[in-house]
Amino acid sequence: MAKQMRVFAFDFHGPAHLSAGLWRHGRDRSEQYKNLRAWVDYARTLENACFDGIFFADNDGYHEKYNGSADGALRDAAQFPANDPAYLVPAMAAATKHLGFGITTSTAYTPPYTVARKFSTLDHLTDGRVGWNVVTSYSDSAARNLGNGTQLAHDARYERAEEFIDVTLKLWEGSWDEDAVVRDTDSCTYVDPLRVHEVQHQGEHFTVDGIFVCEPSPQRTPVIFQAGGSAKGMALAAATAEAVFMNSLSKPGLKKQVDNLRAKAAEAGRDPHHIAVLQMITVISAPTDEEAQRKYQQYLDLVSYDGAMARYSGWTGLDMAQFDPDRPLEEVKTNAGQTMVDVFTKLDPGKKWTPRDIAREIGIGGTSPVIVGSPQTVADQLMSWMNETGIDGFNIAHAAKFADIEDFAQYVVPELQARGVMRTSYEGNTLRENLFGAGQRRLPVDHPGTAYCRSLVSQAQ
Ligand SMILES: Cc1cc2nc3c(=O)[nH]c(=O)nc-3n(C[C@H](O)[C@H](O)[C@H](O)COP(=O)(O)O)c2cc1C
Repeated sequence: MAKQMRVFAFDFHGPAHLSAGLWRHGRDRSEQYKNLRAWVDYARTLENACFDGIFFADNDGYHEKYNGSADGALRDAAQFPANDPAYLVPAMAAATKHLGFGITTSTAYTPPYTVARKFSTLDHLTDGRVGWNVVTSYSDSAARNLGNGTQLAHDARYERAEEFIDVTLKLWEGSWDEDAVVRDTDSCTYVDPLRVHEVQHQGEHFTVDGIFVCEPSPQRTPVIFQAGGSAKGMALAAATAEAVFMNSLSKPGLKKQVDNLRAKAAEAGRDPHHIAVLQMITVISAPTDEEAQRKYQQYLDLVSYDGAMARYSGWTGLDMAQFDPDRPLEEVKTNAGQTMVDVFTKLDPGKKWTPRDIAREIGIGGTSPVIVGSPQTVADQLMSWMNETGIDGFNIAHAAKFADIEDFAQYVVPELQARGVMRTSYEGNTLRENLFGAGQRRLPVDHPGTAYCRSLVSQAQ
């Protein structure tokens, strides 16, 4: 059987995610972001098309580097406003049976106990269809509004995240025995106290010594996703992630990252294929190549320069307003400017990139590659990304909210299914089963979280 493509819809609980100015397009339905029924209908569409899940980005902060203020982000709704995605999930889950839900939650500002409780609750209410995208937060605005005013340094954020995940794994895997809930009416015992244990965690960042407040959910531990690409981010992913979200502009670059991650996972004693790698990609599809190209041109005409630069300045920490939009960036003699050029010259080495070129490039789907075409063209390209890089699938971004993913479901999914690379029905019920096959409801034994699971530990002894 051909390798099955994992497919997630990448979204954001706000009017606009990665594409700049596209909320003005006639097919975009950004105004529905506060409408629960629209999200529920969307969930049904995704499940009918056999998507593995929907993946919600989220950010505790907002973009405010461009021109030194949040104005650009506010004007273009650049990942702003942003509601909490977790509240959408139970309603979307009630309307579906198999669709998974990846939810981004930061390790920077909320205690691990609270995050563990949130995900256990969601895993119960979705019958085991929840994943946690672990991020460490990069915005100063988040630190000012939720923290003590300043961010921890990059590597220190990852060290905190490591301990944070460890605490949540202890709570999910170690606090409750499998058979702790007895519901014995004769002895009036709902939970057997002997089968619930204190986790007794004392670390550098957190002290959590008590028992967990939630009984084990269908997956116990939600599927752990990770997205950071630095050495520290990769090390964390290799140690604990079950799905890694990558964003590479070129296939050779992506292959290198994938090989590196899998080698590091093997070094950590894990089966490298117990990690599903998903590449972010934007797809603009239509029945024919010509129609898809026309749609793409219309989208490009709507890209907002300031909206793209507000995002890019926020992501890179560099105020792009200091550069002339039409002057090639390689003439800018700053290290930061040179780094900007490096990223884009890898994409097209012959070209002299200006900020305006970058805005046009990232205006649709942010820094993800964009595929435009008929179902056959898109399927060919997706398969070549998979075959040449060793990834497992995609997190699919959009230009027009809801509309582009609906096009993908309508046009591209049947082509992928006809080629035997995308499922036509679900194999299991939980998110972990969607990713790794029927029966894989719990963490695999090579995951460090299972070290806290008393039944596994006692079996091994
Ligand atoms: C594809 C991708 C998606 C990301 N999504 C989010 C997100 O939704 N929210 C967030 O706060 N950070 C997000 N991040 C940021 C990372 O979690 C991380 O903080 C950032 O990339 C810096 O870490 P690094 O140096 O290891 O890459 C994302 C990063 C990547 C590469």
